[in-house]
Amino acid sequence: MITLGIETSCDETALALIETKVQDGELSCRVISSLVHSQAELHSAYGGVYPSLAKREHGKNIVPLLHKLFADTKVNADSSKSLNDEEFDQVLENYRAELSLQNPDLWASLSGAQFLKVIPKIDRIAITEGPGLEPALWVGINFGHILSNLWNIPLVAVNHMEGHIYGSLLQALPFGTWQVIKKPPLPALALLVSGGHTELVEIDVNWDYKVIGATKDDAVGEAFDKAARLLGLPYPGGPHLSMLADLARKENIPSAVKLPRPMIASGDLHFSFSGLKTAVLYAIRDEEKKGPLSDNFKKGLAREFEEAAIETLITKSKQALERSGYQSLIVGGGVSANRYLIEELKKLTENLGVSLYLPYRDISGDNALMIALVGATDDKLSEKLVAQGTKGLGTRDW
Ligand code: KG4
Ligand code: ZN
Repeated sequence: MITLGIETSCDETALALIETKVQDGELSCRVISSLVHSQAELHSAYGGVYPSLAKREHGKNIVPLLHKLFADTKVNADSSKSLNDEEFDQVLENYRAELSLQNPDLWASLSGAQFLKVIPKIDRIAITEGPGLEPALWVGINFGHILSNLWNIPLVAVNHMEGHIYGSLLQALPFGTWQVIKKPPLPALALLVSGGHTELVEIDVNWDYKVIGATKDDAVGEAFDKAARLLGLPYPGGPHLSMLADLARKENIPSAVKLPRPMIASGDLHFSFSGLKTAVLYAIRDEEKKGPLSDNFKKGLAREFEEAAIETLITKSKQALERSGYQSLIVGGGVSANRYLIEELKKLTENLGVSLYLPYRDISGDNALMIALVGATDDKLSEKLVAQGTKGLGTRDW
């Protein structure tokens, strides 16, 4: 079965094609292609993702990106199954009024996209339905609906965070290579750490989800980005701040200030990161009274921030793992690329004898491959069909 994944929940426009098969109860997958078009540079001027700009950019880029995906993969090489002009126009006409007003760029590129008349060899379309920035999500959801209606291919709605969980089960292999997706030992704990979320999710032996911990304010990635901005680093600041912290450790530069480890002793599995960011702000203000910030002060503070944020993630994960005897820890979301976090997670899971699942580098950030994989494995597809407007597009309750 071939699945097209569509992801537009934040500032990455992403499309992927995967093939999956189930043999002797085992799921195998091969990535045909996975493309990500990042808008990060455009948003850096605003110091964060600017939702209406994200929507406009997705609208501009998603059709050309699909064109590239099809050109690379030849999934639409058989032009014997095509729509004629009238059929094509008829489907698009249903969207004209709304789309031409709401997203003129998307409308213009769609209505001129002759390649969409050839029906590709795709069995299913998976879209990110949330969580994410609403104007940005809207583009992928509508695009998925339109393709689904044009080509009469089933559409399935996928939760973005579930995507990050599935993504971490994939191995880094060249495109085209088959791999068996092994289910981790269950019950498992998922630590989801991104720009919008910080969650601990229980995955029980039936693969049902329960959120057992979440942030009360900022997400950990957001806190990294805000602290990085205070240190004068470009957006998205997480990787830049982390590089400074790595340098501080290498050069043995300590922090001049001690930052709090918010909620570390709260006894529950919840997080809070906004106080940590405010503590960074005060530390910088105090230091600036003495003169311009030195490089060593910046490095030391970045190190202290990173260690404070990661200590809270590790402490809460440890508490959850010890309390409930989870067999595996699955880590997903952009912050899972953080080198210090990875080292600490390895130590934690080795000590506890728990299997650790981390995404490989190319898919730690947002991508459509993980969305396609969730969509492809959804065996309750009929309940989730949204192409005919039979189901609302609320976030899946998990
Ligand atoms: O999952 P993701 O790509 O997008 C969302 O769904 O939010 O996560 C993006 C977040 C950003 O806040 C970014 O700064 C952070 O992940 N991030 C990092 C690192 N790489 C990305 N944070 C800390 N250290 C990193 N190496
Ligand atoms: Zn994400």
